[in-house]
This record gives sequence, structure tokens and C-alpha cells, in this order.
Amino acid sequence: MQVIAVVASKGGVGKTTVSNVLAGLLSPIGKVELWDTDCNQYSSETMSFSDLLSYPVVTVPDLLSFSQGLKSNSSDYIIIDTAPHSHDSDLFVKILTSADLIVGVTRPLPNDALAFEKIMLPALSKIKTKKVLLLNQRNHIRSAIQNEAENLIHDRIGSEIDVLETALHHRASYAAIGYFEEDAKADKKRLEETANLLDELKAKELL
Ligand SMILES: Nc1ncnc2c1ncn2[C@@H]1O[C@H](COP(=O)(O)OP(=O)(O)O)[C@@H](O)[C@H]1O
Ligand SMILES: [Mg+2]
Repeated sequence: MQVIAVVASKGGVGKTTVSNVLAGLLSPIGKVELWDTDCNQYSSETMSFSDLLSYPVVTVPDLLSFSQGLKSNSSDYIIIDTAPHSHDSDLFVKILTSADLIVGVTRPLPNDALAFEKIMLPALSKIKTKKVLLLNQRNHIRSAIQNEAENLIHDRIGSEIDVLETALHHRASYAAIGYFEEDAKADKKRLEETANLLDELKAKELL
């Protein structure tokens, strides 16, 4: 069993998207569960389509249910979608220490990158033995200040952990199971990058 934790210091950067993309890509390979530990914020978009997904979404609201769920689990992959601002909670620390792979998420925007550097890097540095990767979801918003954020991500965060550039399709998990084909066609490049994500993780020996 591999536990993959998807983390960020901020909301709205793409944690739920990345979690669903990973779950969608891994479900043809093994038995996958997506654990939603951000129970108040889980994308209503995702929930309303949850009966169409190729993997179960399990609500895991607290430390007790997290620990019990891990004990009796027969999945090959557990993807954990986390809450923002939870970097010092007992549940978050347990998630980090249980994870085989920690996937950080940011966007090339100064506040997002700074928050990751100031809050998440110190939390991650305590988990020395884990595989950690930062996904830079770079196609969100284009602006003049993007370059500064990109420099911060590559120079300051990249000197600590691996950084992977992505432009994930935010409906890839649904597209992967045959829905939203029109969306997929509308954004072919992002869909290709999404499909390549597993290969890139394997190339970095993270999966
Ligand atoms: N690569 C992307 N391109 C465009 N929109 C995206 C991308 N990733 C996420 N989004 C959108 O941004 C919003 C926030 O994403 P979400 O995954 O819910 O973030 P979080 O879980 O970190 O709060 C959602 O509406 C989602 O569809
Ligand atoms: Mg979310």
C-alpha cells in the first residue's frame, strides 16, 4: 500500500484537483481510495459527480478515523486530500508521517509560493525520509508578477525539494472515465500533461 498526501499552505491552489487526477490515473493500475480530510471544503463539483468516479471518495474527518482507516485497509493507493492551514494539527502531522509520497501543490503566484516556502517547507523538513515533490500548477493565471513567483519556486523551494511543472486538466479524472470529452478536447495540452504525470513521477522514482 502506498499513501500519497497532497498538501499546500493555501486553499484554491489545486489540492483537490491534483488528488482527483492522481486517483483517476492510478485506478486502472490498482485499488485506489481518495480520502477527503478537508470535509468542509471538498469540491462540490467533485462530490456531485462522485458516483461516476472510478474510485471511492472516503470522508476522513479526524485523527481517529484516519488511524483506524489505515489499519484495516486493503487498497494499493490511498490519496489524501488535505485541508489548508492545517500544518500544525495532529491529523496533518499524522498524515505527513504516514505518507510514502508527499505532493505539495502551488501556483506561480507570489502569495501561494511564499506561503509554501514559509509554512509548508518547515513542516516538511521535519519529515526527512519521505519522498516530497512540489507540483507547480502553472497555467492558472498569467500576469507580470508570475516570473518572480516562478523564480521563488525554482530557486528557493527547488533548492530544498524536487519541483515538477504541471498544467493539469482540472477535470481529468472525469475525462479519464469518459465524461466531459468536450472539455478534454478543448484543452488537449493540459490533458496530455495530466496523462504524463504518472510517467514523470516514475522517472523521478517517486512512485
Ligand atoms: N490546472 C488548472 N487549470 C485551471 N483550473 C484549475 C486547475 N487546477 C485547479 N483548477 C480550479 O481551481 C479551483 C480550485 O482548485 P481545487 O483543486 O479545489 O483547490 P484546493 O483543493 O487547493 O482548494 C477549482 O475550481 C478548480 O477546478
Ligand atoms: Mg480542496
